[in-house]
Amino acid sequence: MAVKTLSELFEHDLKDIYYAEHRLVDALDELAGESKSREIKRAFTAHKKETLGQIKRLKQVFKLFGEAPEAEKCPAIEGLLKEKKDFTKKEKPTPEILEYANLTAAAKTERYEITAYEALIEIAQVLGMDKAVELLSANLQEEEAALATMKTLSKGYDKGSLMTEEDDAESAPKGGGSGASSKPPASRASASKSASTPATSKATARKSSDSKSGGSKASASKASAAKSGAKGKSSSNGGRASGGSGAAQGTAGGAEGMMQTDPATPV
Ligand SMILES: [Fe+2]
Ligand SMILES: [Fe+2]
Repeated sequence: MAVKTLSELFEHDLKDIYYAEHRLVDALDELAGESKSREIKRAFTAHKKETLGQIKRLKQVFKLFGEAPEAEKCPAIEGLLKEKKDFTKKEKPTPEILEYANLTAAAKTERYEITAYEALIEIAQVLGMDKAVELLSANLQEEEAALATMKTLSKGYDKGSLMTEEDDAESAPKGGGSGASSKPPASRASASKSASTPATSKATARKSSDSKSGGSKASASKASAAKSGAKGKSSSNGGRASGGSGAAQGTAGGAEGMMQTDPATPV
């Protein structure tokens, strides 16, 4: 059926996000299962609960629209799920890298959902569907809070635990890497839980020792560090962002994520 009116576009987009929310319920379970940090696990679990509530609100919107709830496959969410699945399967990240990368993956879905809800709200406003605007706005607020939580957890993640000694040594002088704590592997799990790791002194110590040994090796070593450090975005980001707030308290609503492709069709 050709979509010719705003009402029809609204209906299509509603079915799309309805599908996406169902897929993300399962995804959040998997993300929680892949998290060692209690804060991160809690965030994913909390957002899963919120997502179930979002589905209920969407059902109400369908009702307001005089339609039975119906899902229409959302290729965008399927793509994000596949991206996560492929990364996990092909790149075989360590549990720590996976946990950190999941925060970024989750943030991607939040941004998609935010845009989807903003579009639906805009149309609902034009159509004068005040109650639908209210319901959809409640979902939007939760998605925005979830994105904020993901960003906080990501910034606060102890990226020092994701770097090799070489990464650590090389990144400290350039970026001032206050978060670049070179913790031994055994302490990594606990370090990742507490983003407020007092890493500054370590980074400073590295700084001075590096300046003694001279910085001429920087380019070549950085290239090899980039290769050996981590496959993917996490490690290189870590060096730069490690001076962050250290604020991964994991307080708010949670975070959205994604999981292996589960062909379960939303109801
Ligand atoms: Fe959602
Ligand atoms: Fe979400």
